[in-house]
Amino acid sequence: MEAKRIVLIMGGGIAAYKCLDLIRRLRERGIGVRVVMTRAAQEFVTPLSVSALSNERVFTDLFDLDDEREIGHIRLSRQCELIVVAPATADLIAKAANGLANDLASAVLLASDKRILMAPAMNPRMWLNPATQRNVRQLSADGVTFVGPAIGEMAEAGEAGQGRLVEVPDLVAAIEELLSRPVVGADAAGPLAGRHIVVTSGPTHEPIDPVRYIANRSSGKQGHAIAAAAVAAGAQVTLISGPVNVPAPAGATVMPVETAEQMLKAVREALPADVGIFCAAVADWRVAQPSSEKIKKSDDVQRPRLELVENPDILKTIAQLDTGRPELVIGFAAETESVVAYGSKKHQSKGADWIVANDVSGEGVSGGVMGGERNRVHLISGDGVESWPEMSKREVADALIARVAEFLGERKITKQPKGGKAK
Ligand code: CTP
Repeated sequence: MEAKRIVLIMGGGIAAYKCLDLIRRLRERGIGVRVVMTRAAQEFVTPLSVSALSNERVFTDLFDLDDEREIGHIRLSRQCELIVVAPATADLIAKAANGLANDLASAVLLASDKRILMAPAMNPRMWLNPATQRNVRQLSADGVTFVGPAIGEMAEAGEAGQGRLVEVPDLVAAIEELLSRPVVGADAAGPLAGRHIVVTSGPTHEPIDPVRYIANRSSGKQGHAIAAAAVAAGAQVTLISGPVNVPAPAGATVMPVETAEQMLKAVREALPADVGIFCAAVADWRVAQPSSEKIKKSDDVQRPRLELVENPDILKTIAQLDTGRPELVIGFAAETESVVAYGSKKHQSKGADWIVANDVSGEGVSGGVMGGERNRVHLISGDGVESWPEMSKREVADALIARVAEFLGERKITKQPKGGKAK
């Protein structure tokens, strides 16, 4: 008997042929694959070849009486550890984002209580269409994980851009990573099971004009590692991320944003939460009036003058909420000098329960802190300052999440009224 089982929903697209190799690779790894094909998918690959490779019958119809008697769409969507949609077409994504269920593939997605991984593949213009982007954001917010699409040549002659199905090894890696994660939701286990944690990560980009922006060197590595550690501890995690190049941790609900204002809005939407961890390097200022056209050198004899206005302070706003404040609010303090002193000041001024202060000058930390792999932090709380040794960002994340679990564990026993501030 095969240990793990996935349901693979194949959408209609030229990339569907890659699923044959995918099925083979998964089965080599002992992963059982039960396949649902949309009508369009069957135009590209035959159910017969899919069935031969998966060694299972292939499911195609919502109203197949035999199927409904043997294994209906509800059971199909539940008897697996993971649902993979590949290629995830714009149509399948749109249906799932809107909760439609007029064919077997969409009905399985709607009926599922399992993790869902989508590997989009479509024409680059379809991918960039605001409707598709809106749907992807919605699904991400609903907890769906995305892998790709990759950038490259398209099947259509002369077309290139972002829209290719990721290569099979990358898809296999994403599937294995999701399968290795602890179960989330109703069946979750771990010290943070049943807890909702909101994490902000990465930089923000504040537009100057359509092609230029103000940003900083934050890579998102620390924030993403914290989100991954919280997922591993069984929490339901919402990761609100500025533009980064690090992969989204599997199992976290990702809300991608660009600006500080969008980040604050996303955090508000993500609440209520038990814990808020504000790791993002939010730009302190934005351009008062970004230009809707690219600013040209010739437009202005003089150098352009950028008028800056202050961005909302997300950490402070949430830490000072009268209602709906997370039980534990944790901020970061990125400093290049007097780390503990400035960190302690932020602990007071922002109203955070804990501040994780780090020296981003990078002095003495191999590889530097901003963009690097390692970090040295001081945990500042009502109990005082703890200086942790230099560790990898992953280790800092694990240690911080262990402390969060400890804190919430103690809280459970001496439960205080909701909205009260932590020590
Ligand atoms: N932060 C935030 N919103 C902002 C600025 C900062 O949520 N507009 C949060 C960061 O996510 C971090 C903490 O506040 O958790 C401290 O960020 P940091 O950049 O160190 O401090 P600033 O408040 O920006 O102060 P300064 O740049 O003067 O050091």
